[in-house]
Amino acid sequence: MGKEKTANETGLMEKIVSLAKRRGFVFPGSEIYGGLANSYEYGPVGVELKKNIQDEWWRVFVHERSDMVGLDSSIILHPKTWEASGHVAGLVDAMVECKHCHTRTRADHLIEDHFEAKGEKISVEGKTEKELDEVIQQEKIKCPTCGKFDWTPVRKFNLLFETHVGIVPESQSKVYLRGETAQGIFISFKNILDSTRVRLPFGVGQLGKSFRNEITKGNFIFRTLEFEQAEIEYFFDPDETDWKKLYEQWKGDMWNFVTGNLGIKADALRWREHGDEERSFYSKRTEDMEYKFPFGFKELWGLAYRTDYDLNQHMKFSGVDLSYTDPTSGKKFVPHVIEPAVGVNRLMAMVMLDAYTEDGDRIYLKLKPRLAPYKAAVFPLLANKPALVEQARQIYTHLQKRFAVAWDDRGNIGKRYYAQDEIGTPFCITVDFDTLGEGDAENKNTVTVRDRDTGEQQRVKIDDLENFLAEKLQ
Ligand code: GAP
Repeated sequence: MGKEKTANETGLMEKIVSLAKRRGFVFPGSEIYGGLANSYEYGPVGVELKKNIQDEWWRVFVHERSDMVGLDSSIILHPKTWEASGHVAGLVDAMVECKHCHTRTRADHLIEDHFEAKGEKISVEGKTEKELDEVIQQEKIKCPTCGKFDWTPVRKFNLLFETHVGIVPESQSKVYLRGETAQGIFISFKNILDSTRVRLPFGVGQLGKSFRNEITKGNFIFRTLEFEQAEIEYFFDPDETDWKKLYEQWKGDMWNFVTGNLGIKADALRWREHGDEERSFYSKRTEDMEYKFPFGFKELWGLAYRTDYDLNQHMKFSGVDLSYTDPTSGKKFVPHVIEPAVGVNRLMAMVMLDAYTEDGDRIYLKLKPRLAPYKAAVFPLLANKPALVEQARQIYTHLQKRFAVAWDDRGNIGKRYYAQDEIGTPFCITVDFDTLGEGDAENKNTVTVRDRDTGEQQRVKIDDLENFLAEKLQ
């Protein structure tokens, strides 16, 4: 075995992007029309990986907990939702536009990239538009697209996508695609209380698409126009529950999920607390779990103590009482909330990067079997021998009822292994002449099972295959 390399070494981001395209994980968005910046299509194996991550999240944080329920709210919510939440006024980036080639970019990213290229670090968090302008002018930062130094002044730019509903005049029909799934939870809070038997402390989990008009080039699927969020709003009574303890518990649960369920190496992860300038004004504490992407440690999963801000805002804007009455004491109050919020696409980028392994000429994705798009691939040794194909088909259709399995009868076995390794299939099952009883008599009714990570092969009885796979997926 050669020395294993992982994707956090320089240049490997390009390898992941290339593998993602050639094997059907992720394609560039709208490619036949010349592409659409910061958008992607999830291909046949990508959609499986993403779904497996979502299913794992839902299982761990909703199904396996008695203090959590789920929700699936709308993408288009009443526009007042976003006024109340502060997104109409506050979900803004400072942007500049090149007057020459009309490239738009975030001013903070432009400045940070410029200093990084000089080998220096700068924090522009909390700087005003005027201060950002001054840095760009002093440093004479050039446009990354055309190389000219001819910027518009820095101006604020709202990230919410606007659209219109119905037939009423435009200004009255304006709505937004949701910028986060969280607000759907807050505006359904009363209905959840009234329709279920939840008692504080409890959380609501939601998986779904959010949309942001991101203008900076997004580093593959790390930052995109539309993305799948997995958010939890965990409601509690601040007089009964020590928020600092609860916060630490959530940190532990998030960490365990990433290192345990997703199998990420702990030394590629860290926590970073937001300073006063970066933290949202309503949050008492915000920390990001960061992953060491090839372009640096970046936010993976945020944890914020949002207090009772959101529910209070929606009470104010809707006029509806969103308080909670304790069934034992009768105490009436507005619950506080701690929010773990993550993007599934970002989790998927991390999972692929972390799993990428080169071992000599062999490239494989060392995915946890539960996350792998296919749990096994079934091959007949030769495609032109009907008895082999028939036996392999039987195994394939049997396993398919319980697991996601792939079929391949093209090319030679080496090529089939190569393809399955690159999509992270943990086991390849081959039906050969021994299986049919035409070779070594001892091996009749057994198949070869080859392990993705070690390359080692073992004979397993056909009748034991289902249990074999089930055990590996524990
Ligand atoms: N409700 C809180 C909230 O939305 P956020 O930090 O803006 O907070 C939460 O987003 C998570 O969503 C981030 O940690 C990141 O994983 C993901 N995310 C945010 N913007 C994204 C984008 N443009 N593309 C992909 N993922 C994104």
